[in-house]
Amino acid sequence: MDMEVNVGRKPVSIVAIGAGNRTNKYLEYVKRNPDKVKLVGVVELNDIRRRSIATRFGLSDEQCFTDYHAFFQHPALADAVMICTPENMHFEPAMLAIEAGYHILLEKPIAQTLEECVAIGEAAKKKGVLVAVCHVLRHHPYFMKIKELVDSRVLGDIISINHRSAVGVDRSTHGFVRGMWRKEAKTNPMLISKCCHDIDFLLWLTKTRCRKLTSFGSLRWFKRSNAPEGSAERCVDCKIEPRCPFSAIDLYRVRRDWIANFDVPEGKTIDDVIEEQLHQGMYGRCVYCCDNDVVDHQIVSMEMESEVTINFSMDVFTLKDNRETHICLTEGEIDGDETTLRVKRFRGAVEEVYDFTDIAGTPFHAGADLNLIADFVDALLEGRGGLATSIERSVESHRICYEAERSRREGQTVLF
Ligand SMILES: NC(=O)c1ccc[n+]([C@@H]2O[C@H](COP(=O)([O-])OP(=O)(O)OC[C@H]3O[C@@H](n4cnc5c(N)ncnc54)[C@H](O)[C@@H]3O)[C@@H](O)[C@H]2O)c1
Repeated sequence: MDMEVNVGRKPVSIVAIGAGNRTNKYLEYVKRNPDKVKLVGVVELNDIRRRSIATRFGLSDEQCFTDYHAFFQHPALADAVMICTPENMHFEPAMLAIEAGYHILLEKPIAQTLEECVAIGEAAKKKGVLVAVCHVLRHHPYFMKIKELVDSRVLGDIISINHRSAVGVDRSTHGFVRGMWRKEAKTNPMLISKCCHDIDFLLWLTKTRCRKLTSFGSLRWFKRSNAPEGSAERCVDCKIEPRCPFSAIDLYRVRRDWIANFDVPEGKTIDDVIEEQLHQGMYGRCVYCCDNDVVDHQIVSMEMESEVTINFSMDVFTLKDNRETHICLTEGEIDGDETTLRVKRFRGAVEEVYDFTDIAGTPFHAGADLNLIADFVDALLEGRGGLATSIERSVESHRICYEAERSRREGQTVLF
């Protein structure tokens, strides 16, 4: 890609579209690196979030927008935009941004259909703008170590991989049953919303295209027909709440987990907000009585052009919230769970252990969020097109996810 924009002109100017959880992660990098990147605008529907960012970054009223249509009607305000809206709000702002000549840091999933993903990739190529898709695993020290070990070929060639994404009961009931990612039409099927990272990681490791795949899965448990006797529409009214493993009271009021993204309006406390959620909000609903339709378990099996076989499974019914990977190579195996990475050679049964305990579960995906935006900003400053998470690569992993969904729905093996 030929990129003239911003070479040698520091800092890169950027506008945030959507100012929730993800934007705030990337803005930490902006805050820490004022010589490299400057926030010059925010577009956000939610007043509390928009004002909070305007105050932190000293933005004037002219730099704040509630509506991205209004923002894109302005002459270009910046070199780049970060699009961190929910995924049903990616396609339109991404296409408008490309048309206006902005480079884009685009949260995953790219969009809501394969056609939209491809269209964004093609439009960006035609316009000559850079689009980085936020696949954080490619910038995560633990996953980068796996990639380095595989690429070094110290253990020979990959023969097969077993990879598991343990989404876990708390993250799942919060996000995929009660919360934002519960309905396919509003966001995406769960394999795309949550596991496009995993599929992207597997393609990154194997460096070959998939030639055959099949997938199974369903919404097996979190539906009205499984509501236990005595349960109610809300946990606060439920007789069996004290023994329910999915209680919202236990998750939010008692354990105070998954509350970081609850907005606290002026004059209220986080406890007020938790109580409002439990009594009236979407997060107080019984897990059996929500309007969710995304799967709660799914597997995908793939055969790659290199003959490598891959088994992937997404599990909700576990206390774990991590990724586990077992790679079988011709001269050894790699086995990891994000905390420990074991590298075993067949000859001599020699084992090397890499310990990631000190970074596992640390903020910003163990620094990966900051590394990712750093790669994007540096690419703009240096005028290079090469990104660890380019849209071209990402479209390919999204293609696999959408095809796996087709396989699951139609009960067929997909041949490429
Ligand atoms: N890369 C990762 O590891 C990772 C992790 C979590 C989420 N995500 C993705 O990031 C995206 C955002 O997720 P999030 O957790 O930050 O969500 P969020 O709800 O915290 O933030 C989204 C923000 O967008 C705002 N918004 C919605 N529609 C808008 C519009 N039309 N104009 C302006 N603002 C609008 C919302 O008010 C909200 O503040 C999603 O696509 C999600 O799948 C990526």
